[in-house]
Order: sequence, then structure tokens, then C-alpha cells
Amino acid sequence: MHDSILRLESKTVDVVIKTHPFAEILYWGPHLQYFSPQDVHSLSRPIANGRLDVDSPITLMAELGHGLFGSPGIEGHRQGQDGSPVFKTINVQHQGQAVTVTAEDELAGLRLTSEMTLDQSGVLVVRHGLTNLRALAWQVDRFAVTLPIAERAHEVMAFHGRWIHEFQPHRVKLEHDSFVIENRRGKTSHEHFPALIAGTPAFGEMQGDVWGAHLGWSGNHRLRAEAKTDGRRYLQAEALYLPGEMAIEEGDTLWTPRLYASYSPCGLNGMSQQYHRYLRDNIIRFPENKPRPVHLNTWEGIYFNHDPDYIMRMADEAAALGVERFIIDDGWYKGRSDDCRALGDWYLDEEKYPQGLTPVINHVKSLAMEFGIWVEPEMISPDSDLYRAHPDWVLALPGYKQATGRHQLVLNLNIPQAFDYLVERMSWLLGEHAVDYVKWDMNRELVQPGHNGKAAADAQTRQFYRLLDVLGERFPHIEFESCSSGGGRIDYEVLTRSHRFWASDNNDALERNTIQRGMSYFFPPEVMGAHIGHHKCHATFRQHAIEFRGLTALFGHMGLELDPLTVDADEREGYRRYAALHKQWREVIHHGTQWRVDMPDASTLAQGIVSQDKKQGLYIVSQLAMPDYTLMMPLRMPGLEPGAQYRITLLDHPNIRLTGKGGHTMRKLPEWMETSQTASGEWLMQAGIALPILDPETAILIGVERV
Ligand code: DGJ
Repeated sequence: MHDSILRLESKTVDVVIKTHPFAEILYWGPHLQYFSPQDVHSLSRPIANGRLDVDSPITLMAELGHGLFGSPGIEGHRQGQDGSPVFKTINVQHQGQAVTVTAEDELAGLRLTSEMTLDQSGVLVVRHGLTNLRALAWQVDRFAVTLPIAERAHEVMAFHGRWIHEFQPHRVKLEHDSFVIENRRGKTSHEHFPALIAGTPAFGEMQGDVWGAHLGWSGNHRLRAEAKTDGRRYLQAEALYLPGEMAIEEGDTLWTPRLYASYSPCGLNGMSQQYHRYLRDNIIRFPENKPRPVHLNTWEGIYFNHDPDYIMRMADEAAALGVERFIIDDGWYKGRSDDCRALGDWYLDEEKYPQGLTPVINHVKSLAMEFGIWVEPEMISPDSDLYRAHPDWVLALPGYKQATGRHQLVLNLNIPQAFDYLVERMSWLLGEHAVDYVKWDMNRELVQPGHNGKAAADAQTRQFYRLLDVLGERFPHIEFESCSSGGGRIDYEVLTRSHRFWASDNNDALERNTIQRGMSYFFPPEVMGAHIGHHKCHATFRQHAIEFRGLTALFGHMGLELDPLTVDADEREGYRRYAALHKQWREVIHHGTQWRVDMPDASTLAQGIVSQDKKQGLYIVSQLAMPDYTLMMPLRMPGLEPGAQYRITLLDHPNIRLTGKGGHTMRKLPEWMETSQTASGEWLMQAGIALPILDPETAILIGVERV
């Protein structure tokens, strides 16, 4: 028995796996210093009365044949037969942090290959492959990754959302049933970010055991947290298949998407920090090792009104404000006068750009900025030359009228000619122009996605990946942003082939505070596009001062989303100031350790980023609504070196006015704001600093520096 026990170890997390006769995860929790394989006997379960006479494990594939009675990891059949596989291990390969278990069910004619890697960051990555060993196709209804979690996990956190309101967390109790999220929108979706976090009751940013699971997949998905009637619990995640969509032919293998799992004994910050480190070490790859350039994106500045002379003037102003990358958004291609037409016609609009794009690009480059351009290749407008020539290139089921979304249809990337057309057109755009960056959009959901009469959402997602892979290989110097109406396609798998996310189409600083916080649970700041928008937000019509907008965009990959020529000098000075502030601190922001701080007043959001060497820390406190109490609660500053002394500095703040000088919420500022103060890291972490009383919809930036 002991031979069949193996352990994957990291500094923070261990996973103990029993491999024979069938594989089973016995433990996923804190790193064990004194583990020996015989320890696992202590967990050998009793057999309850009135139930099966045998123990029923939650195996790696969670097969029903072991007497699971919960949601299985595999469901399918071969023309009604071979529908209840039970896998027996035939081979185990264990090397360092990785193990591959191969198992077979000879009766069902199926082979299962399970790959598990525990990264140094503490993140466990799991995927399964299912191979059909028989002549007839095996029809897959479900194929999931299942991870048992400890019985003390009684609460689950998930994210809901919608367009311009993404990444909103909510919690449910996990006592006796299942909690399921399902996404059928054909892309990662604004609605259901593919992740679940289970934890001990009332887990928070700094306390509680948490088990996070994110499915790296940009298509339909299903995630489940299940409490069995015997009290055991597990998380499960899978690509969701439409009826008849997935079958495995003889000799073929279907892989699940990768599940990225992060356990932390010290709350959500620990979980996120492991995820961030994992991404930095393994997935985020910029073509060049250089600071993330500050953007100006033209969309909310000029929409479809493209005039090259005017755009060049915008570029002049952008460069003067400190912008480092200038991106022309939607509206540059043939006939694209509004969002009702022209998608698919990836030729330059020569009426708008009679001299071509090159003079604009050259101008942008002469200002020492990079050049970026927007595309939405997966789409086709009914009013387009492409559609008129190839109406049969739409992703649809024959006989049904395909619904439009934002007046557009989806191009069927499974048609080789359509795929090749896109490769050719994108290669023209990216190969014949000095493009450094592509904003890759995708603005609608898939409804009845079909190819050759069969459901094809999964196939379309795979072709999207292939298209990005082909272009990424052909143009390795170009960065790609995954934008899907902002926030609609954010996940780890698309990040393996892209470099930035447009987090939301909502640039309202108040809304962005919660959206960005939600995203921070899984993604570090350097891949989160965060732009300063118009004074009056285009999504909500709320108005915010530049200080609030500037600080809200600071802890991301910063940009401007506006026309700098149409605003007054004060506004422009604000853009310049925050672009400069971001550049001053971006080394810390894009490489440091991020901490979300629990504040007793739910209307206060606080977060910090501490440099790897703990010499510098930045903390932003955002007051979203009227504070609950007369005084704001002290800010504790996590992540510092306890024994070091730090100088506290106010780096940026709203226009704070005191009573007597115009009348406001404070008579006197906290002392540290008026006289220079230092304190130990320990004190700042445990006791903190008094905060000034902030008005609703304002924020301040506080810095600490080791002395
Ligand atoms: C949706 C994106 O999220 C916006 O930023 C913009 O690029 C528009 N599409 C353009 O159509």
C-alpha cells in the first residue's frame, strides 16, 4: 500500500495521492514537514450502516461505479453501452513536482491519462485525457476535473456579472447540496468567471483556509461545489458540451481544460499571491522584457469618426501627456461607419485613410510611441462584402435563423477557407504595417453554434486558439489584448496566447473599484487594462474627479480612454500627473506582492502592493460611499518586514478641505499627514495608521519606504 502513496510538495502546499488500484487524492492542504506514507492509514474510513458494504472513494475521475452517488467526473457512452467506466491504474510516472497516472477500463474500452503538477508557487495544475480504445466513437456528455476539499470548507465564493459589471463576488453556504455555475455563451463570459473558492466559514482576505479552482478555458463551462450526504466535499470543473457536440473516435484523446487550484491556510490573499506568482513564472510572457507602456486607446475619444489628421493631433497630445502606446480602435476598415456593418471586411477604409495607415503609424512612432490596432476577426456583419460573398460562412445550424448580437454574426472558423481568409487578412494588417499591439475583440455570444449540422461551440473555441497561435507564431513581437466587450474573455488559457485583458467597458472609477478587485483574486496588475476615462463616464454618466479616476487606474496596466484634445488644461494636467505617477511606481506595481485589506466598513476598499524586497509599499484606500462611522478605521498595512522601520508618506489625495477653510468632514488631519513619521513594519501591519475622513467617491495613495 505504501508504494502506492506519493506526495507532491511545495514550500506552502502538499498533495498526497494514492495511485493503486485506482487514483485518489487523499490530501490537499498545508505543506507537511514530517510526512511519511503510512500516516495515511489514519484516514481509513468506517463503513456506515444502511449503506453500501464497501468504502466509496472520491477517485480522481469520480466514477459512479465506486458508489459515489454524487456528480461524477465522466458521463458518456458508446451507442448506449460502456457508460459506466471504472478505471484501474496501469502506470504511474512521478518526477519531482509532476505525476502522470494512466488508467484503463478494459470493459468500456477507455484509457484515462491524468496529469498533475504542483508548481513551486503552490498552484496545483490538473488535466485529464480520455482515449477511446474501440472502433465506435465514445459520445462524451461530461468530462471533468474533480478535486476533494476538506470537510471544514462550508462556504463558497463565486463571481457573477454582466457587461459593464464584471467580477462581482457572492457567497453561498456549502452544507448539504451542490452549488453549480454554468456558462453557455460560447466564450468565457462576463456572467460566470470560471472559478470557485471554497473555504472555512467566514474566510477573509487574511484568515481562513481557502481552496480556489479556476478552469483555464474560453468557452462553455460548468463548475460545481458539492457536499455529499456523508459530509465529504469536492470541487469540479469542466468544459460544458452541447448535446451531441463531443465524441471521441477510435485512438483519439480528448483533454479537459487545465484546472488551476490554489490552497491557502491564510485567506484569500495567500491564494491570490500563489496564483499571481504562478502566472508570472509560467504563463505571462511579454515579447520584450520592458515596462508595460502607458496606453491611449481612441475608442471613447472618437468612436467611428476616424480622420487621420485629427488622430495624429491626438497622438501629439498623447505623447505630451506621457503616453507610450497609441491604439486605433474600431472604425478603420472598409465601410465601418457604425456598429451595424463591415465586420469581416478587413481592408483599409480608403475614404477615411486615403494615404493608408502608414503615415499615421509613422507619426505615432516619430513621437516615440508604439502603435496598436483593434480587430474583431471572429465576426461577420450581415451587411459586409464578406457575407455577401460567403453567406454560408456563418457559425449556425442549417434551417434556423441565426440571432444577431450587436448587429453581427459569428464567422465559422471551422471552415478552412474562412480560417485561411482571416490568416491572410490579419497577416496583411500585421505584416505590412508596423504594428506592436493588437486589441482583439469579440462582442457577441454564440447562439446555436453549428458546423456541418452539429453543435460547434467547443470547436469554435479551439479554432480561435489556433488562429491566435498561428498569428502569434508569425508575429512573435506583437502583443495581443484579449478584449471581449471588456471582461468577456478573461481566463488562464487565453492568457497563454495574449498579454493583457481589457477588464471592462465600464470606466466609471466607482464601478471599476469592485470590478478590478474581483479580477485581482486571479490576475496580477500588469495584465489588467485599467484606463482613465472621461470626466463623465460613458457607461454610467457618473462624474468623478481626476484624482479618483487616476488612482483607480493606478494599480493596473494604465491607459487613457478618451480624446485629450477636447478637455481643458486641468484635466490634461491630471492625465499627465497620473501617467507619471504610474510610471514612477510601475516597477513595484507590476512585480510586487498584492494585498487586499479587509476593512470593517464595507464602503471602504483598501489594497496594497509591496515590492519583492519589502523596501517599498503602496496602499490605496478608496471610499466608495458615505463612511458608516464618524471616523474611518485605521489602515493596517500587510506585507511589510516586521523588524524594519518605514517612513509614511502621502503620495496622492483628493482636494481635502478642512472646516474653517471651506467646511467639510474634518477639522484636523491625522498627525502623520502633517509631520513626517516613521513606524516599524510590525506596528504598521498590526496597528496601522489613522486615515483621514474621506468623502464618498475619493481615494488616497499612501506610500511607505524603508529607512
Ligand atoms: C467593445 C470593446 O470593449 C470596446 O473597448 C471597443 O473596442 C468596442 N468594442 C469597439 O467596437
